[in-house]
Amino acid sequence: MAKKIIPKIFWESKNLSIEDIQKKSRTEFFADLKQFGEDQNIPNISWICVNVLQFFLQLKKPKKVLEMGCANGFSSCIIADQLEKWDGELLTGDISEPSLESAKMNAKACNLGNIEFRFGNILETITQLDGPFDFIFIDAQKSWTHKFFIFAETLLSEDGIIVVDDTKKFPDKMKSFHNYIKREEDHWSFFTVPEPDDAIMVFTRKKKQ
Ligand SMILES: C[S@@+](CC[C@H](N)C(=O)[O-])C[C@H]1O[C@@H](n2cnc3c(N)ncnc32)[C@H](O)[C@@H]1O
Repeated sequence: MAKKIIPKIFWESKNLSIEDIQKKSRTEFFADLKQFGEDQNIPNISWICVNVLQFFLQLKKPKKVLEMGCANGFSSCIIADQLEKWDGELLTGDISEPSLESAKMNAKACNLGNIEFRFGNILETITQLDGPFDFIFIDAQKSWTHKFFIFAETLLSEDGIIVVDDTKKFPDKMKSFHNYIKREEDHWSFFTVPEPDDAIMVFTRKKKQ
């Protein structure tokens, strides 16, 4: 039996070219990319998370954003689309090369030139010289979320925002993150945005008295 080739790029599954896709509106592109992710079981952010990111990006208008874990770039494109309005830039990365390559293609397909992609473990590919960031979105390996958060703290500007996805769905994997937050609650103001089967958490630093 012929091996099923899973298309990395959604327009290949529709026999379209990148030029065909570049003619589409971003709204249409995002809807197609999200649907492709659902069909291919790519763990892209939910539409609720899209709304949360867009809301806080518009509120804060950060110039420099860091994303940890881009997969095929759905959330990266959502973030960079907002940042483009005020000349902001996104630095993102992924430890999976095929995912990163498809993320680059997707950014190109929706004509976004304000994203820098780095391949590898984000804890190694990002350094202090890259910061500070006004906004950090954490959506990588769930069992390492506490490590990503501790790293994000060192890269965040004084009044920056950290958004963490999937804080409820994987209680075992997220245990050390929740324990860390409990210990650190004197330093952080945070709230949770509920989703039907998950949650997103938003953090800002508590002001020093
Ligand atoms: C939930 S997916 C990201 C989904 C993406 N934010 C979106 O909504 O389109 C998590 C991604 O994190 C990547 N990842 C896991 N650990 C990582 C690490 N240490 N450094 C960089 N990427 C990592 C995985 O390869 C995976 O593609």
